[in-house]
Amino acid sequence: MSSIRKAVFPAAGLGTRFLPATKAQPKEMLPVVDKPIIQYGVEEAVASGIDQIIVVTGRDKRAIVDHFDISFELEHYLKDRGKTRELQLVRKISDMVDITYIHQKEPLGLGHAVLMAKDLVGNEPFAVFLADDIIRSRVPCMRQMMEVFQQRQAPVLALYRVGKDQVSRYGIVKVKSTDGRVHEVEDMVEKPSAAEAPSDLAILGRYILTPNIFGLLENTREGVGGEIQLTDGLRALAQQGPIVGLEFEGTYFDVGTPAGLLKTSIAFALERPGLREELSGYLASLDGRSEGKPGPSQ
Ligand code: G1P
Repeated sequence: MSSIRKAVFPAAGLGTRFLPATKAQPKEMLPVVDKPIIQYGVEEAVASGIDQIIVVTGRDKRAIVDHFDISFELEHYLKDRGKTRELQLVRKISDMVDITYIHQKEPLGLGHAVLMAKDLVGNEPFAVFLADDIIRSRVPCMRQMMEVFQQRQAPVLALYRVGKDQVSRYGIVKVKSTDGRVHEVEDMVEKPSAAEAPSDLAILGRYILTPNIFGLLENTREGVGGEIQLTDGLRALAQQGPIVGLEFEGTYFDVGTPAGLLKTSIAFALERPGLREELSGYLASLDGRSEGKPGPSQ
């Protein structure tokens, strides 16, 4: 089987959890410190060797397209002012990788969004990234999954152990057998209750899929939430041959909720020289404080 060159980024959700911030911009453009959510995923894809990205967009794609495009006006301004560091920063984004956009007319679910990329992916294995899940690791998560794909020649899911109180937010796998960090997946269920969950292994937003998933998604009916679920397509795929899950090495940051986005922003900012000192002083000043209105300068 060939190597993985293409990655699909579904980015057509309505981002209702983040309203009103997402009224006129995709949630993928919300920043974690000073970088939009989607750029973290794109950087992981590039670091893993992906050279073509397909973004499935919804009604408000402009900000994403503009972000990864050349901005002549901004570059001219920065050059003119001698702002070399900033110039390099913005150039690097537009030079990073080839991106193609495809429009999903209606938000019919993750499975449907992946199906939109069928013609652009063609007949080869491909990666899927959900930008809501940021993964920090020494070896990029997708690169770790590609190694498993090469060995096993089967679709690969990223797995992460979650608490019982968290299982209903994820697709949860049922494991057939385990070899180190690699599990053979027997079945999976989308957003089960704690009582129904077959394990504590959640599917995170990184997948390596084979092109036969498209035909299966075409025949997948609406599932949880009235949406065409990728997990339901994967269940059908598991009937056709083995699927494996990798408990990857790395740390997962969920930026799919306002609380998760805030926690991740704080964690990342505390690692940043120049921000760390001011922010940690500010957080310490809030600690144990139940009253008062700390302002940004405190
Ligand atoms: C999606 C998938 C789910 C997966 C999760 C990972 O859910 O449907 O199987 O576990 O991403 O973040 P969503 O977060 O879009 O509700």
